[in-house]
Amino acid sequence: MKYRRLGRTGLEVSVLGFGCGAVGGLLVRGDRREMASVLARAIELGINYFDTAPSYGDGLSESNVGLVLEELKPDVLVGTKVLLMAKDMEDIERAVLESVEGSLKRLRCDRIDLIQLHNPVGSQRQPDQGRVSVDDVELAIRTFQKLQRQGKVRFWGITGLGDTAALQRVVAAGHADTIQCCFNLINPTAGVQTPAGFPFQNYGQLIDHAARSQMGIIGIRVLAGGALSGSAARHPNALQIVKPIASGRDFTDDVERACHFNFLVEERYVSDLVEAAIRFAITKVEVSTALVGISDLAQLEQAAEYANRGPLPPEALRRLNKVWMDQTPIKS
Ligand SMILES: NC(=O)c1ccc[n+]([C@@H]2O[C@H](COP(=O)([O-])OP(=O)(O)OC[C@H]3O[C@@H](n4cnc5c(N)ncnc54)[C@H](OP(=O)(O)O)[C@@H]3O)[C@@H](O)[C@H]2O)c1
Repeated sequence: MKYRRLGRTGLEVSVLGFGCGAVGGLLVRGDRREMASVLARAIELGINYFDTAPSYGDGLSESNVGLVLEELKPDVLVGTKVLLMAKDMEDIERAVLESVEGSLKRLRCDRIDLIQLHNPVGSQRQPDQGRVSVDDVELAIRTFQKLQRQGKVRFWGITGLGDTAALQRVVAAGHADTIQCCFNLINPTAGVQTPAGFPFQNYGQLIDHAARSQMGIIGIRVLAGGALSGSAARHPNALQIVKPIASGRDFTDDVERACHFNFLVEERYVSDLVEAAIRFAITKVEVSTALVGISDLAQLEQAAEYANRGPLPPEALRRLNKVWMDQTPIKS
């Protein structure tokens, strides 16, 4: 396993990170023994970053991660989040403090390595949609700083979802250590300049801007929630209905779009689309760790093997531009 620096935190994280969310679902819907053995195997494979959140399975993911890691006592890093609900917007500091206390209990630890604001960011606060404003982010960060002084968190970050302009403002302010960026073959705009008329939200190379601000970058939606496997079938542990983030109109549309990358398999650059997607994410050197939502041991083994094959070859990358140029608009 290769390791990369998580921006200004100075932490070294495995290039493949373990997504403990509801989409892959192992840590939410899996069998307890299976969770323990898969996490132990991940650690053996060299994975040292595990990403969870209070909202994943309504606390279940954090509780399961806490239980397993308490038993294994490995030297790994855990990131979790704070999701502000509409009612929390009037007293963000209190909501952040309460959420972190809950996470510490469920994770069975005294200090959180990385605490991240989970909400998308907009130009204005939109409580009904869970969107926070740039000022709200600053307020949450001030509370994270307070928690750091109390020894309860080490570093803090944000989620790079929402309005691109608002996200660019947060990144430019330079107060967050990390950012989770949606980055995949279907919508690579957080790390690649795409052709004019590209049909999805343009994240304006957010990854590059964040890297210039010395932020650590955590890649999310690397497999477009599973659509980049090229199959619409879902694992029993996985979330059965996945809503795309900044890509097609629905999961089926994303699966169809994933098939545009089949040439990478046919021309033997990779053995399957999952390999293409994982290796594409880590081709971007500014991505510190690329999270993959894991449903079972086989998916973990495969993800690790693919990540160990390293970035995609330059000839394959050159061909991608043509696919992005041919992307059709989203049908309503
Ligand atoms: N901050 C945020 O707002 C945010 C948002 C999204 C994600 N995240 C983080 O990112 C993590 C990853 O989740 P994601 O939503 O981005 O999903 P993802 O990693 O893009 O996709 C996960 C899905 O890919 C499929 N998959 C994984 N390995 C595979 C393999 N070897 N072969 C075939 N299919 C495979 C699985 O689907 P099947 O099992 O059904 O095949 C799994 O459910 C989350 O756990 C979370 O930690 C954070």
